[in-house]
Amino acid sequence: MRILDTPEQMHSVCAEIRRSGRRLGLVPTMGALHDGHLSLVRMARAQCEVVAASIFVNPLQFGPNEDFSKYPRTFESDCRKLESEKVDLLFAPAPASMYPRGAKTFVEVADISDRLDGRSRPGHFRGVATVVTKLFTIVQPDLAFFGQKDAAQVAVIQQLVRDLNLNVEIVVAPIVREADGLAMSSRNAYLSPQERKQAVILYRALNRVQTLADRGERNSDELIARGKEVIAEEPSVRLDYFEIVNPRTLEPVSDLRNCALVAVAAWVGGTRLIDNMLLSGAGEAAPGLGGKE
Ligand code: PAF
Repeated sequence: MRILDTPEQMHSVCAEIRRSGRRLGLVPTMGALHDGHLSLVRMARAQCEVVAASIFVNPLQFGPNEDFSKYPRTFESDCRKLESEKVDLLFAPAPASMYPRGAKTFVEVADISDRLDGRSRPGHFRGVATVVTKLFTIVQPDLAFFGQKDAAQVAVIQQLVRDLNLNVEIVVAPIVREADGLAMSSRNAYLSPQERKQAVILYRALNRVQTLADRGERNSDELIARGKEVIAEEPSVRLDYFEIVNPRTLEPVSDLRNCALVAVAAWVGGTRLIDNMLLSGAGEAAPGLGGKE
């Protein structure tokens, strides 16, 4: 695996790959890799001749009181994992090379960026959209792979790609879960053993909603109320949001005639976790899960 640490080097190596006509896939990450990330890499490996991953803890997407400085950084073990998945290129730039002094350009996807996590984390999606646009410009991949766990991020990136006519296919991989259902996340590493047990309540709440929807309940308010009841069974878990939205626009939907996304964010101790499920309405297949934009 070749490791490149400046945008210029990465750009020129990727340009050479494109000139050779090989299909190039990009898996953008912030490191602290787990099986969820590796499922993206495997998907990229299956669909592309050359696989690039990036590891960059993007300061721009963290708010002033968020966990940028304590975000887990496990570069050596990440490299071993990527090598064992036969990743060809790793782009691991320093913040100063991605955001040189004097940089003044940001990418903002209006409206969607203020919904779900964007409402709780102002500026977060501006940071994501800016760094993803930069990564796409540097690498110019044919395909880029993202996890369904960050459903709001997926909606923002898909809108960005449409609006800016970016020539990249976005592939969305299903959520990878622990044996008890907890969605894999780099932030799970922050949980104490007791919090780790409590955290599974997010999955149980989503499951309850899914079961009720499968039995024919179509009213979102009713489903949200039932989901919140499950979260309340774990009094030390503090809910941020529990919503049922259109997966493309993230706008609330009042009933489930069409495909909908049920999404939750909650604080378990000092750790904010997110999770979601796609509910398919009558006669509609859920987009996103393993789907392509
Ligand atoms: O999902 C992530 O890990 C990050 O938000 C991303 C897409 C790598 C941008 O920093």
